[in-house]
Amino acid sequence: MLDDRLKAVAEFVPISDSVADIGTDHGYLAIELFKINNARRVIAADLNSGPCQAARRTISEAGFNESIAVRQGDGLAALTAGEVDTVCIAGMGGKLEADILEARPEVTDQLKCLVLQPQNGFEYLRGWLYDNNWLIEDEKLAKVDGRVYQIIKAVRGMAEPLNEAELILGPVLIKKRPELFTEHVQNNIAQLDKIRQGLQKGGSHTKEKLAEIEARIKLLEGYTL
Ligand SMILES: C[S@@+](CC[C@H](N)C(=O)[O-])C[C@H]1O[C@@H](n2cnc3c(N)ncnc32)[C@H](O)[C@@H]1O
Repeated sequence: MLDDRLKAVAEFVPISDSVADIGTDHGYLAIELFKINNARRVIAADLNSGPCQAARRTISEAGFNESIAVRQGDGLAALTAGEVDTVCIAGMGGKLEADILEARPEVTDQLKCLVLQPQNGFEYLRGWLYDNNWLIEDEKLAKVDGRVYQIIKAVRGMAEPLNEAELILGPVLIKKRPELFTEHVQNNIAQLDKIRQGLQKGGSHTKEKLAEIEARIKLLEGYTL
């Protein structure tokens, strides 16, 4: 089923772009992209055969198997250079999403837009985008089953360097402060607090790391006001 998280991903894809959903699993996002985006081409790709079979089934039941190609492959290896304008990667760790983009520069270099929904590793992913000349054009939050998710739209361009809070919370989210923003900040603080509690049980070698985490909590607390 297409939930608010995947709906938010689909809404960020430019109309009429050809698009690939990498790590499609069930294929719900690929179907939505075809339905709402008037996409010239939709490719649903996954590393594993089980998800590819599931996607083929859902796409066929929806009557789109002539319009949406399902391909098995590792990340962007499922695509040829220039084949799509936009790539969506949702539901994976931020580091894995960055690694997928980095692994096939010949494909990534031809893309115009990225729509990413990382589960974690936000700082790493935003740092990677900045380092690789991707500008974060827009960001959204979506809540599903009590969990708040971040969705990032990036286009080609030079960005201003991101500070620590922007890397974690999102530069556009900080500016726009959408409805779920305070909850988003509090969730990040709660995660850091768990790390802090773990470190407090550790030995003296964790002191520096503990100070770093405490400073970060303090920094984020400034965004709950
Ligand atoms: C947690 S599911 C997310 C599914 C869907 N994108 C969503 O957000 O609901 C992650 C999917 O990514 C696939 N995956 C993991 N690593 C991948 C890679 N390197 N290339 C393509 N797909 C990958 C997995 O097989 C799995 O189907």
